[in-house]
Amino acid sequence: MELFNLDDYERAAQEMLPPEIYDYYAGGANDEITVQANGAAYGRIRLLYRVLRDVSQRSLATEILGQPLSLPILIAPTAFHRLAHPQGEIATARAAAAAGTIMIVSMVATTAIEEIAAANAASAKAPPLWFQVYVLPDRDFTVTLVRRAEAAGCRALVLTVDSPIFGRRERDMRHHFHELPPGLSLANFTPSGTTTPPKFDFKADLTWADVAWLRTLTDLPLLLKGIVHPDDVRLAWEHGANGLIVSNHGGRQLDTAVSTIEILPEIAAAANGRMPILVDGGIRRGTDVLKALALGADAVAIGRPVLWGLAVGGESGVYDVLDNLRRELDSALALCGCANLDEVGPELLRF
Ligand code: FNR
Ligand code: LAC
Repeated sequence: MELFNLDDYERAAQEMLPPEIYDYYAGGANDEITVQANGAAYGRIRLLYRVLRDVSQRSLATEILGQPLSLPILIAPTAFHRLAHPQGEIATARAAAAAGTIMIVSMVATTAIEEIAAANAASAKAPPLWFQVYVLPDRDFTVTLVRRAEAAGCRALVLTVDSPIFGRRERDMRHHFHELPPGLSLANFTPSGTTTPPKFDFKADLTWADVAWLRTLTDLPLLLKGIVHPDDVRLAWEHGANGLIVSNHGGRQLDTAVSTIEILPEIAAAANGRMPILVDGGIRRGTDVLKALALGADAVAIGRPVLWGLAVGGESGVYDVLDNLRRELDSALALCGCANLDEVGPELLRF
């Protein structure tokens, strides 16, 4: 089967993966209204392109928090890559390095952060990794993990703030999919020498005080992931955040939550250039990326498509997914009359 776009990768991955794993990846909370809405909202935005503007020399290069990227598309943190492919996060890290972008490593990876960092750094031109954390009830565990991420060379910390508790995922309930298959573990939870990871529970009493605490714990830039309310932008800034990821967790937490592209302009207005803004959720086409940039994002991130690429072809599958989106973005840019990302603005859009 030839794969021409990210939805083709999803269909191919679905054919290859056991149903409970496909459903864990693809699914969301309750009726999955937000899962659908994230993607559908892009389809409602129309492009008002310019012509006759010499687009023969184009660049997709950008920079985020001082880190150069060859395209404005990061890999969102997703759990359990070894469910998709035996090489799991190692394959993803190599593909990110080859594509010249940042992989945000999930704390609930099935490979230890040190091993992922080694795979990523093997490529000389690789941008460094970022590390995503949930603060767990055991704060000492978070301290240890942040130190490990720093030591492994991660260059930013991403605190996910949309998950005081797990969303209700009915596909997982139907499959009784509540633990990892034998042979896989939460590798970052396993101190060397022990084999049984501690139980994984979110910290339901997480507050802005925890953000302030995390801010004092490390000198790494701190991004908050899961912000959708404009009022939370000011609080994020006041508590020392260095960046935001506008996200509703791919529709996996609160169903019927606002779609991220819908709210992005208000978040960008509230941030007012004080910190970089990323957005994720439902980005499947180069035109989606262009629209997000036009509405104020500095870059975007993709979650599920990376897992589809991983399932289909390991490292090269993830690379192909990124490359596919890169080519589509390049095409969208040219046809909008832009030669680089700085030329992309809201004047290219109609609602
Ligand atoms: C996620 N997401 C996520 N986010 C996070 O901060 N830590 C995590 O461990 C995970 N795990 C995870 C697993 C799976 C299977 C999915 C699909 C998602 C959310 C992720 O970072 C991102 O916000 C969404 O995936 C973006 O939406 P799309 O691109 O998948 O539509
Ligand atoms: C998820 C968690 C692990 O969305 O973030 O499945």
